[in-house]
Amino acid sequence: MNVLVVGSGGREHALVWKLRRDPGVQKLYCAPGNAGIAQLADLVPVNQADTNSLLTFARQERIDLTIVGPEQPLTAGIVDRFESHDLAIFGPSQSAARIEGSKVFAKDFMKRNGIPTARYKRFSVSEIHEAESFIQTLHLPVVVKADGLAGGKGVIICETQKLAIDAVQSMVLDKVFGNAGERVIIEEFLEGEEASVFVLTDGSDFVTLPPAQDHKRILDGDLGRNTGGMGAYAPAPVVTEKIKRLIEEEVVVPTLEGMRKLGTPYRGCLYCGLMLTEEGVKVLEYNCRFGDPETQVVVPLVEGNLGEILLSVAKGKLDPRSVAPSSSSAVCIVVASEGYPDHYEVGKEITGLQAAADDIDVVVFHAGTNQHGGKVLTSGGRVLGVTAIEKNGNLEKAIGKAYRATEKIAFEGAYYRRDIGRKALNRLKVTADTQ
Ligand code: AMP
Ligand code: GLY
Repeated sequence: MNVLVVGSGGREHALVWKLRRDPGVQKLYCAPGNAGIAQLADLVPVNQADTNSLLTFARQERIDLTIVGPEQPLTAGIVDRFESHDLAIFGPSQSAARIEGSKVFAKDFMKRNGIPTARYKRFSVSEIHEAESFIQTLHLPVVVKADGLAGGKGVIICETQKLAIDAVQSMVLDKVFGNAGERVIIEEFLEGEEASVFVLTDGSDFVTLPPAQDHKRILDGDLGRNTGGMGAYAPAPVVTEKIKRLIEEEVVVPTLEGMRKLGTPYRGCLYCGLMLTEEGVKVLEYNCRFGDPETQVVVPLVEGNLGEILLSVAKGKLDPRSVAPSSSSAVCIVVASEGYPDHYEVGKEITGLQAAADDIDVVVFHAGTNQHGGKVLTSGGRVLGVTAIEKNGNLEKAIGKAYRATEKIAFEGAYYRRDIGRKALNRLKVTADTQ
């Protein structure tokens, strides 16, 4: 089959890398891709938001399956457009993508369907005073969320009531996130450990992929600003078999059922962002796509032919047995540009990419790179995802390999966290000590 991947980050590189290993995949394209993806797929110089051009390309090149990485094309309705032309495409319809596109939709949906999540209320511009009163009833910190897509910046954790009120005002009155902030969610702060669980589903059948853990903060020890994700590992030992079953029973099954009842069955990858609290599992958010950087550690653990599996999802014929359980572990260290997540420079030459990938268990996924005159240059805040995969599942070894490879890479202002996976190692050690 001929496959088109839409997007240009580490997530898309990981998908392309896995698709290259699927003997059923002949031609492989990526729009617009990056310098790393260019080594495995033909790049198509079309922006991910340009649905018309993507559709024309898919028809001309007889693409059998299009796989959409980022959320924007999904919430803009790319799946509906492709399907109306009888083209198979992996991802939810525009209606189903509201699960990520509107936090108001997602929270109301969870409430109606009894899916555990933080206590909340929603407010719009005419309800500012009610919002202020509600904030007074919550313990600190208070979480304020813009309803729509805000490029990962729409969640503000407020340490004082004044900051929470300011956050609401900046969203609904000053419109710092444009229309995305016309409505807001105010909710209680949840304590616990986070986990990202991806479910592949054709609307009724589903398979849960190995649970992962992201590292959202910029600094070691989970300190500093929130980012798109500074590293990840999978499987995350915090999600035991028992907790995984709970997640399926309390979150996944009711979510898929609820979406079917609405007449908008969810098809694609359902990303459940979870907080494992003392009271049980709670949903922080849903995403309508694979997560990044988590995909860089989850996709290498998928045992099976990825193209075939995702095509079966797109066609509504997923056989959960086509995805076998994996005994490997993977860890990804994100190498970012100095200054990220705020201002950073681009265009820096990257060296050591070849040397880093010398170890056969290491893959360097590109997140923000482009090629210029034979050189690979930085082009984004998150630049690379250095990923190590250990077949025997030894996470400690995987972490060691990933860091040794990362040290070989250099560009001006390269920055990465030194503690990716440490939480998992501590947990594994405690478990071993108590046995
Ligand atoms: P979201 O985009 O909703 O996942 O939020 C981004 C990040 O904010 C999450 O990954 C959490 O780290 C944090 N967060 C969101 N909602 C809450 C909450 N209710 N309690 C604690 N942390 C939260
Ligand atoms: N890793 C967080 C996300 O993909 O949204």
